[in-house]
Amino acid sequence: MRYYLYALILCMVALFFCACQNNQSASYRIGLSQCSDDAWRTKMNEEMRRELIFHPEIELIIRSADDNSEHQSADIDRFIEERVDLLIVSPNEADGLTAAVSRAYDAGIPVVVADRRVNGDKYTAFIGGDNYQVGKLMAQYIREQLPRGGRIVEMCGLEGSTPAVWRHRGMMEGLQDANIEIISGNGYWFRDNAREEMARLLQQTTDIDMVMAHNDQMAIGAWEAANELLSGNKIRFVGVDALSGEGNGLEAIMQGKLEASVSYATEGGLLIQRAAQILAGEPFTRDTVLPAMLIDRDAAEPLVQLYRQEQSEVQTIDMLQQHIKLFTTQYRQQRIILWMIFVFAVVAVIFFVYYLRLYRQRKRLSEQLLTAQQELEQATRQKLTFYTNVSHDFRTPLTLIADPLRQLSHDSSLTEQQHSLAEVAERNAQVLLRLINQVLDLRKAESGKLDLHRSQVNLTQAISEWVNAFQPLAKKKHIHLIYKADATVFASVDIEKMERILFNLLSNAFKFTPENEIVEVRLWQDNEQCYFTVTDTGSGIPEEHKRRIFDSFYQIDTTNRQGSGIGLALVKTFVEMHGGKITVSDNPKGRGTVFTVMLPINNEEGTLNSNSVNSQIVNTDYVHITAEQILTELATEEESNANRKIVNEKIVNNVILVIDDNADIRHYIRSLFEGEYTVLTAKDGQAGLQKARQAVPDIVICDLSMPDIDGLEVCEKLKTEIVTSHIPVLMLTARSLDEQQVEGYEHGADAYLCKPFKAELLRAQVKALIENRKRVMIGVDARGETANAVRLASPVRQQNLTSNSANGLTPNSVTASQRSGLMTPDEQFIAHFQKIVLDKIDDEQLTVETIADDMAMSRTQLYRKIKSLTNYSPNELIRNLRLTEAHKMLLQTDLSISEIAYRTGFSSPSYFTKCYTDYFGKKPSEVK
Ligand code: FRU
Repeated sequence: MRYYLYALILCMVALFFCACQNNQSASYRIGLSQCSDDAWRTKMNEEMRRELIFHPEIELIIRSADDNSEHQSADIDRFIEERVDLLIVSPNEADGLTAAVSRAYDAGIPVVVADRRVNGDKYTAFIGGDNYQVGKLMAQYIREQLPRGGRIVEMCGLEGSTPAVWRHRGMMEGLQDANIEIISGNGYWFRDNAREEMARLLQQTTDIDMVMAHNDQMAIGAWEAANELLSGNKIRFVGVDALSGEGNGLEAIMQGKLEASVSYATEGGLLIQRAAQILAGEPFTRDTVLPAMLIDRDAAEPLVQLYRQEQSEVQTIDMLQQHIKLFTTQYRQQRIILWMIFVFAVVAVIFFVYYLRLYRQRKRLSEQLLTAQQELEQATRQKLTFYTNVSHDFRTPLTLIADPLRQLSHDSSLTEQQHSLAEVAERNAQVLLRLINQVLDLRKAESGKLDLHRSQVNLTQAISEWVNAFQPLAKKKHIHLIYKADATVFASVDIEKMERILFNLLSNAFKFTPENEIVEVRLWQDNEQCYFTVTDTGSGIPEEHKRRIFDSFYQIDTTNRQGSGIGLALVKTFVEMHGGKITVSDNPKGRGTVFTVMLPINNEEGTLNSNSVNSQIVNTDYVHITAEQILTELATEEESNANRKIVNEKIVNNVILVIDDNADIRHYIRSLFEGEYTVLTAKDGQAGLQKARQAVPDIVICDLSMPDIDGLEVCEKLKTEIVTSHIPVLMLTARSLDEQQVEGYEHGADAYLCKPFKAELLRAQVKALIENRKRVMIGVDARGETANAVRLASPVRQQNLTSNSANGLTPNSVTASQRSGLMTPDEQFIAHFQKIVLDKIDDEQLTVETIADDMAMSRTQLYRKIKSLTNYSPNELIRNLRLTEAHKMLLQTDLSISEIAYRTGFSSPSYFTKCYTDYFGKKPSEVK
């Protein structure tokens, strides 16, 4: 839509610019090449311009050649280049300009020749005066004025220009047989030249009756010379043009400078009319020759009058033209404005329609959204009501579970294991109760049903006591818990809710703060508000979670759940009920988080007295109880860990390692297996890995969701490290999604069990995994090639082993990888062990310790790894390898028995014989 809109706007703008163009603009360009720019030419040009008012389709471009034929040729060529539609040319000279005019004509440009002519007939039309007639009229005037003859000066125009030629010719022919002496002078059409020429001629003779000049300007120039040089100038002067206006012929006649002038019409208007006809393709007269007549003083007078009238008319016309121009400009501007209005109106309409549609669309969407939201809200309300009801229903039975359990846990007739199971159950019933109460409180607060019971409280003291209740926990967790209060702060608050606020913030801080770090509580007052902060130096809260951390049920890490997501929501609700505010920020001193609670003090005048403060008993029950619960959880773990010290030297079989961050789960699983197995526990992934490496258990039971290193990572690490790679891992998780299980298996897990689980199922799974491990034990032979332990096992034992194979439980069967030829890391490990033994087979001192050193393991690790992989202890395996090697020597060499005994690392031949007989059921001497 946006692109269409842009395109449309672009079109409108283009349209607008088109509209701005003057559609009256010229469609024809006429080039006017003038030979000169004197008064006669200026008049001609003005007439043309005036005529153009009636021809708006024509644009006139005027170039004047300054009486230079070469310049004029160049001007014409330029017009040809510019492809003018028509050329009007008044050639300076015929010879010099004929070629240029022909070029234009040949180029297809219509050429109108004005006044002066070119040679030949390569032109379209001609308009000009009859110069021959002009000459004749001059001759006629001479004859009339000088009937008895006389001497005249003919002041000629430019030699090569046709008027000069024809005027001369006309005059000469008109003076045939007349008694007239003619002195020829050349004025080149200019006043100055004529003045000089006249002065020169006057030096030759002053006996001159008349000067006949080819134009008025030259006549005036000659008059000026005579007037200057002769006192009592009697010479009579006649010119051509009879141009009106200042300094021109008619005025000179009126002033008595000239006697007469032959009229020579400029006819600029006619030229434009002719050009228009040609351009319009209308019929036209090719050669228009304008008549001439002699104007003497009598004729000049009315002409001057006429000229004055004409001048005023011209002025009126000019004024009208100015007006027309103005109106045209105004009209154009108004048209532009109109178009602009039109364009903007269209664009506005388009926008309006577009936005109307958009608005309707949005409205429809927001209505749909609103409905969906309402439905969602209703569904959420229904769900919440359901959860509230369920929570309510849970509370009574839970109380009835928790209480009898408490009594039971105090029963002295219980065995230690029963007692500890009852304690676990009771503690967890309490946790559930606490959670349920929080959910109910949150719901109550949200529906406005939770009341605030304010009283004046010495907050400094109350917080101090609540903080103190956490001190034992702090001590156990090796956390430095600090409380700082600036002064004694009194506030009107609901003490129970304050206690809950502090508890939640503190327990939150403890949850995320590692050992040897700091949790600090501070309290201070600022005018009508008091503030307290709980600062920890834990892992901190990422920025994107800070905004939502107070939302109900919001959890930062949904994979590794830490709590229910109720605590902070409840804290916020309680704080806001007090008219306060809670914020969360990064600890400015480095790692960790600061929760800041602001509360209005609300101490009304007079209500605060020492009595009311003193009588206020700070209730620390809740904090005490809950802090104690956390403490017990910790204690249980410490205790069991103390009892379950890993026995390094005394090698134990069937060791289970439980890795879970929940102390109760660890405790519970331990109670399930204790007696039958040795149970080790670890409270997180890191500790779990450490214990697994150290103790090399027979199986690892690992929780999937744990902070820092989760179960998947633990599993992966266990499976990649050589010491632990053989250990089966059973994943324990609260989630049962198939993909998660797949993920677990991909990370190397051997089995998966979902919480809550049945004790029997866990037992059965653990047993099966350990058994399976034994079933795929790696066989070993002396060369480590066929890797069949059946061969290595004492032939006496072989019978027992093979008898089990009927049940598919042959412990030393060949593994799939051995069959395929590729060795697993565990097989490589055994091969490595064998190689070390075979390389030093004659070394009597070869011990498990030295081999363990060679293999970069502890003795325990080596023992447990070898045992679980082969079912032999390392010592047994070493001895068997020695015996197998000795057996080969017996069969394949001539060495004596005692030599063989020493070569295979036995301390004495008698000990060798004893071991050999035990192992093979025959004496070495018999075999030999
Ligand atoms: C002007 C002019 C006129 C004359 C005409 C002849 O340039 O000299 O005075 O009559 O040209 O072409």
